[in-house]
This record gives sequence, C-alpha cells and structure tokens, in this order.
Amino acid sequence: MSDIPDRNEIAKLLISEVMKYAIENGMTRLEISFEISDENVDAYNDRCSWFGSFNWGLVDDTYYMNMDVSEKIHDANIPEGFHLHKLLEIDDDTLYKCHYAAFTNSEAREFYDLTEDEKRQKFDKLYDGTQPINSKASVVLKHGDEIASMLLVVSRDNEEYFSIVAVNPDYRNQGLAKAVLTIGIQEVRKQGTNNISIGVDTVNKPAVQLYKKYGFKVRSRLSFHSWKAT
Ligand SMILES: CC(C)(COP(=O)(O)OP(=O)(O)OC[C@H]1O[C@@H](n2cnc3c(N)ncnc32)[C@H](O)[C@@H]1OP(=O)(O)O)[C@@H](O)C(=O)NCCC(=O)NCCS
Repeated sequence: MSDIPDRNEIAKLLISEVMKYAIENGMTRLEISFEISDENVDAYNDRCSWFGSFNWGLVDDTYYMNMDVSEKIHDANIPEGFHLHKLLEIDDDTLYKCHYAAFTNSEAREFYDLTEDEKRQKFDKLYDGTQPINSKASVVLKHGDEIASMLLVVSRDNEEYFSIVAVNPDYRNQGLAKAVLTIGIQEVRKQGTNNISIGVDTVNKPAVQLYKKYGFKVRSRLSFHSWKAT
C-alpha cells in the first residue's frame, strides 16, 4: 500500500502530463476555473497549491453578485454640475479616457499584467457587439467635456449584467457610482427586468463595499488560474 502515491502527487502528475501535452502540441496558454463556496474553500486551496507548484498564476477571482430590484428604489441623486448622457452617444476614445483612469487607479486587477495595447483591446471587446449593450440603461455623467462616471449594462438571459461601473479618480466619493447605479436600475425596472447581476474582483474593496451597501448579495465566486508557455 505504501507504494500508492498520495492524492497530491497524483494531482501534480496529471497536471504535469497535461502541460507536457500542451507543450508538445504547440499550445501557449492553459486556463482552469474554479467555482468557490464556503463548503469547498479548503479543496480550492489544495488545488491552488498543486497548480502553483507549476507556476500557474491567478488571473481572475470574481464575486458574482445579484439583486432583485422588484421593490421600488429611491430617485437618483445627481450632484450639481454633472450632466446625464447615454453612454453610446460618447465616442470610444473619450469613454476609454475615463475607463483607463478609473482602472489604473483601482483595487481591481482589471489591467493587471497587461500591456497598453492589451488594455485597449480588452476595452474595445466590451463594445464589439459580442454582448448586447442595453443602450438605455448604459449611461455616463459628464462634468464639462470630461466623463466623471460611467455604467455599461449588457443584456443576458434572464438578467441585466452591470459590466462596468467606473468613476474617474478626480470625482470619487461624491456619490457618482451610486448615482449611475440607481439610474441604470431604474431603467432596467422600467424595461420589466428585476434581476440585476454584477461581477467584481474579490480584492476590490471599494467596489465590493459599494455593491453590498447598495443591496447586492454574493451569488458565487469564480476563480481562474492560467499557465503561459515561456
Ligand atoms: C468603486 C468606485 C466605482 C466607487 O465610486 P465612487 O463614486 O467613489 O463611489 P460613491 O461615492 O458613489 O460611494 C458609494 C459607496 O461605495 C462605497 N465606497 C466607495 N469608495 C470606497 C472606498 N474607497 N472604500 C470603501 N468603500 C467605498 C461606500 O460604501 C460608499 O458609500 P458611503 O459614501 O455612504 O460610505 C470607484 O472607486 C472606481 O471607479 N473604482 C475603479 C473602477 C472599479 O473598480 N469599478 C468596479 C468594478 S467594475
């Protein structure tokens, strides 16, 4: 019996065989996802150590939160000097300026390890039509010519997904995130949808706090780890 390797060794052997196969077949990147709950967090930590020993790194760790907005919510409070516009009326470069400034000054790992080109490509992908944008619920608040705050909402099966909530660092802590969330939620309710979901990096405390305070509840946590050929 003592010759039988333990589960950690078997797991590592399997991972090394998969990586060997990938290298032999010219693959340059492998990725695995885990759905984490309170019940399986120990098993997740074991898996992190197996993959970590082969230099797989964490690339994404996201809470998916949702909220039932069937109850009427209060009116949006837009601070003085800010003006509401539809997000799709704004050109991509102007939107990117706010997006870039917000995520460069963020606890989210949105831009983690990306080149400048990759950051822009990631942004462009949001608007390439792959995900249908809810044009009425997606809004920005402008201050003069500058975008202070933005909300991008995409329509999914049975829910509206609040894909990007971003506030330019110069305009934070004035209630602008709360304002765009409220405007988006009011519009989605008008359209007859009550289920709203949102994804947020688990380490992004300001955003997690914002959504929890707003009434969103954590539905699941999904973590991605990847290996890149060198
Ligand atoms: C998270 C973010 C959107 C908050 O924007 P904001 O306009 O400063 O937030 P608001 O002023 O509307 O704050 C609303 C609530 O959010 C929470 N919050 C905001 N900033 C916070 C911080 N730095 N720390 C803890 N909680 C914070 C608070 O609960 C706050 O309520 P309170 O003012 O009653 O305490 C902003 O920091 C941001 O753009 N970050 C970078 C982009 C990002 O991470 N987006 C979310 C992922 S898509």
